[in-house]
Order: sequence, then C-alpha cells, then structure tokens
Amino acid sequence: MSHVKTPIYMDHHATTPVDPRVVAVMLPCFSEEFGNASSRSHAFGLRAEELVDEARGQVAEFVGARKQEIIFTSGATESNNLAIKGVWESYRSKGGHIITQVTEHKAVLDTCKYLESQGAQVTYLPVDKTGTVSIDDVKSALRPETVLISIMFANNEIGTLQPIRELGKLAKEHGIVFHVDGVQATGKLPLNMNEYGIDLFSFSAHKMYGPKGIGALYVRRNDPYVRLSPMMRGGGHERGIRSGTLNVPGIVGLGKACSVASTEMSEEVSRVKSLRDRLEQGLKSGLEDVFLNGHPTERIPNNLNVSFAGVDAESLLSGLTDDMAVSSSSACSSGGLEPSYVLKAVGTRPDLLHTAIRFGLGRFNTAEEVDYVIDRVISVVRKLRAVSPFYGDSAKNK
Ligand SMILES: Cc1ncc(COP(=O)(O)O)c(C=O)c1O
Repeated sequence: MSHVKTPIYMDHHATTPVDPRVVAVMLPCFSEEFGNASSRSHAFGLRAEELVDEARGQVAEFVGARKQEIIFTSGATESNNLAIKGVWESYRSKGGHIITQVTEHKAVLDTCKYLESQGAQVTYLPVDKTGTVSIDDVKSALRPETVLISIMFANNEIGTLQPIRELGKLAKEHGIVFHVDGVQATGKLPLNMNEYGIDLFSFSAHKMYGPKGIGALYVRRNDPYVRLSPMMRGGGHERGIRSGTLNVPGIVGLGKACSVASTEMSEEVSRVKSLRDRLEQGLKSGLEDVFLNGHPTERIPNNLNVSFAGVDAESLLSGLTDDMAVSSSSACSSGGLEPSYVLKAVGTRPDLLHTAIRFGLGRFNTAEEVDYVIDRVISVVRKLRAVSPFYGDSAKNK
C-alpha cells in the first residue's frame, strides 16, 4: 500500500492541478503567439484574436450557450461580483431587492452585504438539514421589487446540489434575473443554460483542471436580454462589460479545459463517484460515529464531507499532513477557529461542528490512493479518539 506517492491531493474543491493537455496549448501563447487580441493591425494580434475566438466557442459549447454570451473574467469571484453588482446597478429603477441563501460562497454573500450598504434589500434564505433551499421559501420571498435571485449550483463545502431547474422556471415566470454560481458544478454534470433557465452563470478555470486567474460569466442575450453595468471600465473589451487586455493564455487554457471536460465528463464522473463511494464506505466500515454532512444523494460526485465524532478536525489534519491534502470546514478568523457557517446552517450538532473533514476527489486520484487515505484516516482517528475527552469510553476501543 505504501507505494502511493504522498501527500495525496484530495482537495479538488479548493483548486485542481492543470491538466497537461491544457498546459500544452497554453505554452505557445506566452512566446510565439503572444499578441494582444485587440491589435487588429498585424498578424500577432489577429492570431491572438483567433485563439480567443476558438476558446470562446469551446467555453460556450461546454455550458450550452452562444459565443457572444461568454464574458471572460479573472475568475468566479469577479464573475459573481459582476453579475450581482451589475444587475443591481442596471435594474435599480425597477427595484433593489435580491434573494440569495445563507450557504453561498463569500464571493456572493459579501457582495450582497456590500450592496446592502448601498441601499439594496437582501433576503438570505435558510436551507434544510441537507443544505437545500426550499422553492416555497423562494416564492414567499418574492416582492414586486425583486430584481435578482442568486443561488449556487453546488455547495463548495458539503457538495449539495440545488434545484436549479425549478428555480430557473420560477425566476422566468416572474421576470426576475437568475444568477447561478456554478463553480463547483462545472465538469460534474452536463450544462445547458436554456434547459436550466439560467440567465447568469459564474465559473472558474482552476476548479476544472485549467489555470488560476481566469474564469467566465455567461450572460443571457435573448429572452431576456440581461443588462449588466460594467465594473471595469476602459477599452471596452468583452462588449464593454469587462474592459482590460484579454488574458490570452488563460482564455486558451479555459477553452481547452472545457473541451476536455465536455468529451470526458461522463466517464470521469462515474469513475470519481465510485472512488468517492469507496472512500465513504471504507471510512464507515472502519470507524463508528462517522456522519455525512450534506445531501445523501443530491451532491456533486467528488465531494465527501464527514464528521468524525469526538475528533478535533484540526488535530486530525495535523496528523495527516504528510499523507494527504484534505480540508477542514473551519475558517481562521482573528478570534481563532470559527465553525463553518455552512455546517451551522444545516443544523449540524454543536459537538460535531469542529469535527468535519472535506474530501474532494479528482481526475487523477486512484483506487490505491483512496485505500491509503482510508487506512491513514482510520488510524489517526482511532488514536485521537483514544485520548479524546469528548469521545465516550465505551466507544474508544472500537
Ligand atoms: C462556490 C464558489 N464560488 C466562488 C469561488 C471563487 O472562485 P475563484 O477562486 O475563481 O475566484 C469558489 C472558490 O472557492 C467557490 O467554491
């Protein structure tokens, strides 16, 4: 078992390695094909423009959209900011009410909080114990002045998938713009903006085997035509919505990452899902008192978030650092370790809040790695439980 190379990377919700096929198409963009995609007066610029155009096509196809609906950004944080602030500024005359949910990523929550300081009214809906928002709650939150519903596709901690299709339908019936933070869902399930009724969709290359610092926002261009105020003003790039010289190597990388995902997704998803299930079963058969956080079935295929009763997640991580890269659900703050707001929102038992570990499997993980991880986690959890004042004596020797 020890022939696996450690530390094993199992933190693919945080970021992914760049696929070598993506690196290969990016490299020439740093040297021979380095032109500015806006320089129309010479071959270097025209070639760069051609590369961007090809990548835009790959990205559009991947999300089931048209080329002219893709705006390149620096990543999903920027896409979320652009979508939410852009809609709010553009539709202010209609009203300033936004609906979102408490388990969104900070890039959505903090943007909404900022807009509240500018006069917006924001409803933060709760979620149930699986992390799912209720359609009825969204319906009851609707007001005549609601201009935006922003709900993520899949949660980055617990992996819960939201009822996006139903939400899209509801938004359309009421003529409200529907934004989806799709970061954790891209590459995990087939996407089509019309089928899901999505008007704005944020995603990021580094979560899907592409490079960091590049992402995109899908912006619907008909039925309805979504208006967005720009946040970056300047040379009028990206239809005036996002000025700034285009990141050609990044865009080419995102395009390739999308085309690889398009062709390999169904095979990859079933492989990764079976590894994830093997991990879950392995941990549960070797240990008592392991609790799944999130939805038992409606979750992304690579996510496993579990609480190990009686074990402090930070101590577990320290015991595992040489073996694997996984993540705890606590966030560092000035006052120490804050329990995850997502775990709190799903009503996790207080004694389990600091015991959760997120495993994020990915394209290059193997069954041997999963078995090694199971073995090491079981061993460290047992050791920690044996000395834990928070774990019952009767259970210690199991
Ligand atoms: C759900 C979600 N939204 C947004 C982001 C931010 O993405 P980026 O790193 O591309 O800014 C992340 C990254 O952790 C995420 O998981």
